[in-house]
Amino acid sequence: MTSSIFDEDALIELQQADTDPLASPLQLQTEGQIAIRQLHRYHDWSGLPLLCWNCDTETILTRTPDMPLAVLDPGVLQRAVAETGPWTDELVPGLVHYGLPLPMADGCRLVALGHVPSDPRSIPTAARTAAVQLGWDEDRLQEWFVHQPCASREIVARLVDLTWQQRQHHERFEAAEMEIAELADRIERMFEEISLLHALARNLHLSCAPVDLAELALERISALIHCGGVAAYLQDRSGETRLLTRGCLPFDEEGFVRFVEQFSGHNWQRPLVRNNVADTLLGRDFAGLDNFVLAEIAEGSHRTGWLLICNLQNGREFGTIEASLLNSVATILGVHARNIDLYQEHEELLVSFVRSMVSTLDAKDPYTRGHSQRVAAVARRIAVELGLPPEDVNNVWLSGLLHDIGKIGVDDRVLRKPGRLTPQEFEHVKKHPEIGYQILKGLTNLRATLPGVRHHHERFDGSGYPDGLAGEEIPFLARILAVADAFDAMCSDRPYRRGMAIEQVEAIFRQDRGAYWDPRVIRAYFQARKDIHALWQNLVANASDSALDDAVDVEGSTLCYAKPESPTEAT
Ligand SMILES: [Fe+2]
Repeated sequence: MTSSIFDEDALIELQQADTDPLASPLQLQTEGQIAIRQLHRYHDWSGLPLLCWNCDTETILTRTPDMPLAVLDPGVLQRAVAETGPWTDELVPGLVHYGLPLPMADGCRLVALGHVPSDPRSIPTAARTAAVQLGWDEDRLQEWFVHQPCASREIVARLVDLTWQQRQHHERFEAAEMEIAELADRIERMFEEISLLHALARNLHLSCAPVDLAELALERISALIHCGGVAAYLQDRSGETRLLTRGCLPFDEEGFVRFVEQFSGHNWQRPLVRNNVADTLLGRDFAGLDNFVLAEIAEGSHRTGWLLICNLQNGREFGTIEASLLNSVATILGVHARNIDLYQEHEELLVSFVRSMVSTLDAKDPYTRGHSQRVAAVARRIAVELGLPPEDVNNVWLSGLLHDIGKIGVDDRVLRKPGRLTPQEFEHVKKHPEIGYQILKGLTNLRATLPGVRHHHERFDGSGYPDGLAGEEIPFLARILAVADAFDAMCSDRPYRRGMAIEQVEAIFRQDRGAYWDPRVIRAYFQARKDIHALWQNLVANASDSALDDAVDVEGSTLCYAKPESPTEAT
């Protein structure tokens, strides 16, 4: 052991390696750097010269620039080893020694040591001896002494204590800073998760297909969780499956199904989380799979698919955060898919119900078989031409199917009468819009069809029935149906006459628009006339006399026009 050591190389290393001693602790790389940074903090806070003493190797690791001369008496070093906190002592005459613990580095105990002269009037003997050992001349020794911060033991002790308190404050500050940083990360992550769930919730409408919602979910998950791959496996009501992916997955769709089958015994109330599977049997079966979270896309017991994230990056493992997020997303996808299924089932039930009613009408009135389907198709095409939104177009179509449903309440003898109707019979038939309205008004899901059912025989000039509405008073839906109804009635054959030629029908349309029909609807008809002729001809050509199940037939409506030459008497 030497009584004084001066290590110029260590000083140079310190200055080169540690140019920013008060930089953020988050930037530190090694234990040695942490200790050196702490030494500089002690120096800045106290203003006292310091060196870094390695108690295990008994060497100076580095020192501050104002500590070129070290007087490390054996008693000082013993004190440095013995103390676990800050200390101050005048162990060498004329010098006040002090020590402050430093963080350990590479398993070695480090201490910040230093000394200052206690008497500004004379150079301590021990310092003079150490200077001689370093080869200093008197001038250099004097220069060192002039620049030394001379202080009494009490003042130095106070400085050291304050420095130690400052360290404790700084450590608490650093801990708080790290806690704030972690909280900020968590808040940012929570915000991103909420944003993801909000984006999905915004698209929970029935017009968004489950595949589109799943694509959106994969996009947002892959942006939020830095993992190797994300996948959604979807199965629709018909059993058709689809595997949507982002990133790289260790299996194709067939492999995915085999993968999921491995966990048939899992309770899917919670997602399945597996880490470190690369060396397991599972990892051998699916090469490239390191870890994953697998969640069931389901609503209750109604499963519609699976959601998977795998191979978290940077060697991290999946935990409750990822599992919770995936579970939430899978639940949203499951509920949405179930709602879509229920809506489709409901729609199918509604259409089946409507078709049953139309079939009933067609069975009752053989002369009008297929009329409702043709009116519905023509009206729908006109509605499209008018630029109505899809939901309204669908309601126009349903209204076309049901517009004459009130004929169920008309006497069969009148309905099936092959010839022209008497005025009394015609008055009886004219009740069918009101009867249809009464039949359907209690059915909430068909409420949108009521204006068409009740008012499809109103005339634009107010001479129609049942309410004698005119112009804009007539619901627009009914004005569309009126044109489609007249078109099919005039074009269709009847037992006592052939259907009119389309040119003749269109001549009547031109002549009586504004009187019988809304000119805007007539204009839309002419704009789409080629399409309408084609679809009408197609419906007539493909109809079958026995096709009552789907209620399509070739027969025209006897009752729609009591007098072929007078289309305004359509029923
Ligand atoms: Fe009618």
